[in-house]
Amino acid sequence: MTAPVNFPAPDGRAALVPSVLAADFTCLKGSLAPVKKADWVQLDVMDGFFVPNISFGPGLVPAVAAASGLPVDAHLMVAEPGRFIKAFADAGAGLITVHAEAKGAGACIGRIKALGLKAGLAVRPRTPIARVKPFLKMLDLVLVMTVEPGFGGQAFMPEMLSKVRKARALIAASGRKIWLQVDGGINARTAPLAAEAGADSFVIGSALFSSGQPAAFLRGLRAGL
Ligand code: DX5
Repeated sequence: MTAPVNFPAPDGRAALVPSVLAADFTCLKGSLAPVKKADWVQLDVMDGFFVPNISFGPGLVPAVAAASGLPVDAHLMVAEPGRFIKAFADAGAGLITVHAEAKGAGACIGRIKALGLKAGLAVRPRTPIARVKPFLKMLDLVLVMTVEPGFGGQAFMPEMLSKVRKARALIAASGRKIWLQVDGGINARTAPLAAEAGADSFVIGSALFSSGQPAAFLRGLRAGL
């Protein structure tokens, strides 16, 4: 098994997280090299059941880690995440996020932690944020989806901002250092809105890789948060 990666912990700064889903797969190294100044990268893993799309598996983790030089966060948008946790851990993921709506989510969090990795729990737009409360004592990250999971390039759902605020309040009440991540439609306009609501980790796909100047995009985004 690959040694656990030293994944960054919340430190009051904004963590910028490129989504590989939107990278240029004709030249992954060229696409990810400019984002080395990000904090980590995210692999959006889709199984065609939990979401109506299929993306990639654990085999891509080493390539993404090598191309970016960054820790890898595996966002499992899959119906049965328990089947894939060890494979992503062995492939070198430093953080694995499962969905609260997926089979055995709670047990998966325990298994991820037992493997020495950081654990995240994600909620779809229609899932109440209260679903994460029982797990906060184990979690390193809460992911509030700001689009319906399954595809990049969707419009940010502003109605999720109240959910981000509620999530921040739950995290504060837990007394633990837990990332509050938003994912979907994040750009130079929506990221500050999410930050104001309490988010401190921002997954950015299409806005970043379609900018043409991802390194400058990250600098500008970080300056505005
Ligand atoms: C949806 C994916 C996307 C992706 C980011 O399932 O999780 O949200 O990471 O996509 P953009 O930044 O293109 O909206």
